[in-house]
Amino acid sequence: MTDKTLLEAPYVVEMVRTCTNMYAHGWDERNGGNISLLLSEEEVAPYVDVNNVLRQLPIGFVEPSLAGKYFLVTGTGKYFKNVQYDPAANLGLIRITADGATAELLWGFTDGGTFTSELPAHLMSHAVRLSADPNARVVMHCHPANILAMTYVHSLDEREFTRTLWQMCTECVFVFPDGVGVLPWMCCGTTEIGQATAEKMRECRLVVWAQHGIYAAGSSLDDAFGLIETVEKGAEIYLKVAHLPRLNTITDAQMHELEARFGVKAREGFLD
Ligand code: 13P
Ligand code: ZN
Repeated sequence: MTDKTLLEAPYVVEMVRTCTNMYAHGWDERNGGNISLLLSEEEVAPYVDVNNVLRQLPIGFVEPSLAGKYFLVTGTGKYFKNVQYDPAANLGLIRITADGATAELLWGFTDGGTFTSELPAHLMSHAVRLSADPNARVVMHCHPANILAMTYVHSLDEREFTRTLWQMCTECVFVFPDGVGVLPWMCCGTTEIGQATAEKMRECRLVVWAQHGIYAAGSSLDDAFGLIETVEKGAEIYLKVAHLPRLNTITDAQMHELEARFGVKAREGFLD
């Protein structure tokens, strides 16, 4: 079992491509952003010796519901633009111990690095999303410029924020019918912001961190990417039109039509 083999695993290839693509979208300046991908032992075992723990990394909180689970995660301080050139230094494969307090490093972080500083928000969100949806796999965080800009000039009320985004592109309401959770500015990298993010993830798969960025939870890297891409498009259009007289919009009646057409249900109480 060599590192070279894991580098050929389809999920590592896709993770590298995703980091590269997110960087190309301008969502991940410097070391901005982080991703965690839940993997099964069946996916991991053909590539790495699961009995060979390279390092024990305390996670600083406990998440016993994730005991024994494997995650491919981005490293703290790592630049998304560089992941493609050295995946083994910029990514790590970890397994959570039985007590939920430690991450066992099985592969990666070859320059002595460790997992993202946002591990609390990632693991706590995975725990919540898995209880809502057994197919949940990915938590993705990044700093898209338009969504950030929107948090400076728009009310942070979740219903208002979500409704504005839904009104900006026809597809928004059926791509994220559960809407967008919004947290006020909080210090990043803490257990507190992790808990607050996960609490929002009970109701929706997107959480905006005001003046910081966005979190998405998805069943795949594409799914999480697509959620962020759609919100970011909505925010971009909002910024193009917010200062102009609004002559037209997508009405609530039209959104109800979309609900019926696409078989989705908008978050309770968010449409009139
Ligand atoms: P990390 O480099 O620790 O992943 O942090 C980046 C970031 O976006 C913090 O919110
Ligand atoms: Zn961030």
